[in-house]
Amino acid sequence: MKQLVINGNKELKGEIKISGAKNSIVALIPAAILSDDKVSLYNVPNISDTKALLDILDLLNCEYKYDNEALEINTKKIKNKVIEEELSKKLRASYYFMGALLAKFKQVEIYFPGGCNIGSRPIDFHIKGFEKLGAEVTIDGNKYTFKAKKLKGANIYLDFASVGATINIMLAAVKAEGKTTISNAAKEPEIVNVATLLNSMGAKISGAGTSEIKIEGVNHLSAGVIDVIPDRIEAGTYIIAGALVGNKLRISGIIEEHVEALLSKLKEMGVKLECTGDSIVISKSKRYKPINIKTLVFPGFVTDLGQPVSVLLTQADGMSIFEETIFENRMGHVKYLQKMGANIRVNDRTAIIIGPAHLKGKEVVATDLRAGAAMVLAGLVAKGTTTINNIEHILRGYENIVEKLQNVGADIKIVEVE
Ligand code: EPZ
Repeated sequence: MKQLVINGNKELKGEIKISGAKNSIVALIPAAILSDDKVSLYNVPNISDTKALLDILDLLNCEYKYDNEALEINTKKIKNKVIEEELSKKLRASYYFMGALLAKFKQVEIYFPGGCNIGSRPIDFHIKGFEKLGAEVTIDGNKYTFKAKKLKGANIYLDFASVGATINIMLAAVKAEGKTTISNAAKEPEIVNVATLLNSMGAKISGAGTSEIKIEGVNHLSAGVIDVIPDRIEAGTYIIAGALVGNKLRISGIIEEHVEALLSKLKEMGVKLECTGDSIVISKSKRYKPINIKTLVFPGFVTDLGQPVSVLLTQADGMSIFEETIFENRMGHVKYLQKMGANIRVNDRTAIIIGPAHLKGKEVVATDLRAGAAMVLAGLVAKGTTTINNIEHILRGYENIVEKLQNVGADIKIVEVE
């Protein structure tokens, strides 16, 4: 078993370069199999979620070369196979093979996806979308079978602007006959990244990044190329680290408008930020104002940064309120922040945080990926040693987290224990 051990309260100085986005690459790999040729992806993060999807490509007999953040996928020998539970449950994004295989082979057999335990996370919008396109769906326990004689474009309205459903329906519709319109589509930057790859392969998608996406079906998709966008959640996590313990900590390789909501809230707290092109320089201030944060769909405050930012709220002078509106259960980290000395009360999806707290290092648990990121941030600011268990969650989404933090002065390491 691996643990992360952090000796906290060390100043962070220097530069952290942001990697390619987890929530993009996990959709870009399934999207690539729609090509009948080679697809080249650059800036591919080396995280365990990438590896889990490459394992699915292996199962499908799909060839690829992954070297130095460049991934070349060649679909010429791909075969349709049942995606067993052992592979599907490793991550949420295995469900993008539903849309991709349905478009490619008109039949998919796959088990329910895994992913962070942050709520019930149903996939009913995805299924309704596939049905509207003409697929028949059979559910047998955890096993989902989708079959279609042919897929036909349709008007699909999403009850909620779901990231996963928007991408999955886009994947399924890209080769359907005729026009598909997705209304109340999600607008997250990762959706634009996937549409850009598909269009480079010959798809006809317009409106990605707005709430109405239009897709004109095509028969064939050829070679494609894409740069994975920078990970806005990784960037946000390190920006928060800068506000906690930074001394001119530079976070580089970001797209500022993707982290706009976070920057705006940090400025409201009094965090010192200097934005220059694709970098942000952050230094810790002595005092922070308490603020209220409510998570929303893009371009609102992203749910994935709610847990990390709540660590910073423990350092503000007075009462802050953090409200989670997207998932039912984004409070797994609170119990461990309390153990470290934070004054937090949780009422359903709202946390009331009273600061400033003098956090002390303790043994804690990463209950999910972003709860794990929150524990790392708490460990960086706490006095003494923080030991984090279940770090597999963290390694799913943060490339080289230990090296990146060590390089800017953190005392952090991974240890193997029995
Ligand atoms: C994606 O999850 C991300 N995961 C999440 O990142 C992210 O938190 C989330 O989008 C919101 O930005 C990946 O990209 C792999 P949703 P997803 O569909 O697609 C409900 C992280 O920490 N819903 O936008 O699962 C759902 O329960 C992860 O990196 C339905 O009811 O999110 C939730 O309440 C965690 N039925 C809301 O919609 C459906 O069919 C938004 O979910 C689909 C969703």
